[in-house]
Amino acid sequence: MTGINRQLGRYFIIVALLSVGFITLVANISINLFFSNYIKETRSKDDLKVVHYVEQLYSDNSGLDPQALMIIMHYAYSESVTVRFRDMQGNIIWSSGTPETMHDTTRDYEADDSSLAFQGYPLHYKDKKIATIDVGRPKSIISSLEDKQFLRTINSVFASAFLFSLVLAILYSSRISKRFLKPIYQIKENAKLIEDGKYKKLNNVETNTYELHDLSISVKELADRLDDQDTLRKRMTADIAHELRTPLSILQSHIEAFMDGVWEPDIEKLSVLHNEITRLTKLIKELSDLSVIEGDEIELNKSEINLSILLHELIDSFEPIFIGKNIHLHKKIQDDIRFFGDEEYMKRIIINIFSNACKYTNDDGDVKVTLEQLNDTLILTVEDSGIGIPKEDIRHVFERFYRSDLSRNRGTGGTGIGLTITRALVEAQNGKIRIESEVSKGTKVIIEFVHEI
Ligand SMILES: Nc1ncnc2c1ncn2[C@@H]1O[C@H](COP(=O)(O)OP(=O)(O)OP(=O)(O)O)[C@@H](O)[C@H]1O
Ligand SMILES: [Mg+2]
Repeated sequence: MTGINRQLGRYFIIVALLSVGFITLVANISINLFFSNYIKETRSKDDLKVVHYVEQLYSDNSGLDPQALMIIMHYAYSESVTVRFRDMQGNIIWSSGTPETMHDTTRDYEADDSSLAFQGYPLHYKDKKIATIDVGRPKSIISSLEDKQFLRTINSVFASAFLFSLVLAILYSSRISKRFLKPIYQIKENAKLIEDGKYKKLNNVETNTYELHDLSISVKELADRLDDQDTLRKRMTADIAHELRTPLSILQSHIEAFMDGVWEPDIEKLSVLHNEITRLTKLIKELSDLSVIEGDEIELNKSEINLSILLHELIDSFEPIFIGKNIHLHKKIQDDIRFFGDEEYMKRIIINIFSNACKYTNDDGDVKVTLEQLNDTLILTVEDSGIGIPKEDIRHVFERFYRSDLSRNRGTGGTGIGLTITRALVEAQNGKIRIESEVSKGTKVIIEFVHEI
């Protein structure tokens, strides 16, 4: 394995070199291909010039004597071509020779004719073809000294660019990749901080790359969630210890008093013990329920329920508790609302919400229960005029063991599991639950189900 920094640097260098190499190749090919037409045209124009020159010389001298041939030879040399005459049968009768044979310093053309491409033109005298003139030029299109020099210059420019980009890529790749990787390193560091449990010490990641920005936000949110969970876990341990300690110490003190003969176990004292045992049993049941809903999928035993009747029955069973706190109960229940769901779970849901409304509402308060069907949706609301939930706690109350400080300070008991279970049971039946609340004004729990029958 190797560092991302090195890998990026390597990619930079490869890409830079490949680009310059590619440009060099393309430039060479295009010079050869695209200029060849232009050069061909220029050549045939130049060839005709040679032909006219020879024709002119022929007609001026009424033939070609050795001196005229010498002039043609010089002319051919100056034009960097080879001139050949062929008789009417096609036999070569004279050749100016390759320019090299005349002048040693020119290394431009090969010495033999095979490197030359000849183009034949008729030689006219007095409107009659008397021979053929071949004008020979090197086969390679880019052949003249200037053309070759041009290509060489271009290639040396590309070679320098090649070297220059290599040096630049080496020098800057590490700097550029460092700048690019900075936020990634910060995110990596944040992940390490999360691993060490330092959720609040995360670095601020500065980046203008969307993906990295999103990643850093996700990591930060993950840290916040883990921090919340951590706090919840600590609270939970304290709460469970507290929940267990209180009934157990009551049980212990009562039993010790009975054993020491300080107290007689009368019905009143035994019922105190019974209540504490009931609390302990409830706590253990809730904990085991929680392990069920947090484990596999909740199994539903669905049947058609008359929700209106069920709600009336549960309100009746809660009535004594409400009356005990002098809470005024208002109901607005639409008749005959039916729902296809799990009756036991529906009871649990309603009981949990009622018990909260009762627990967190002061004496002489109000609780309003509404059940109605709007289009396809069944809406159950339980609204109380109780202590309310602080804004920052509302989003947490469905988390296991979460209890707002308001309810903790009032010593209302409870383990903070009720709403966790309630939400799981609502969602298992494709419903939704939400809470609206204002401190000291009250809380409204809204549960919605899609009407399936
Ligand atoms: N009607 C309400 N009014 C005010 N606060 C509420 C109400 N319902 C819930 N809460 C807040 O939400 C917290 C979580 O509620 P939940 O029902 O899960 O737990 P609990 O009532 O504390 O304990 P239990 O597990 O016995 O139900 C409560 O501790 C309380 O702070
Ligand atoms: Mg509760």
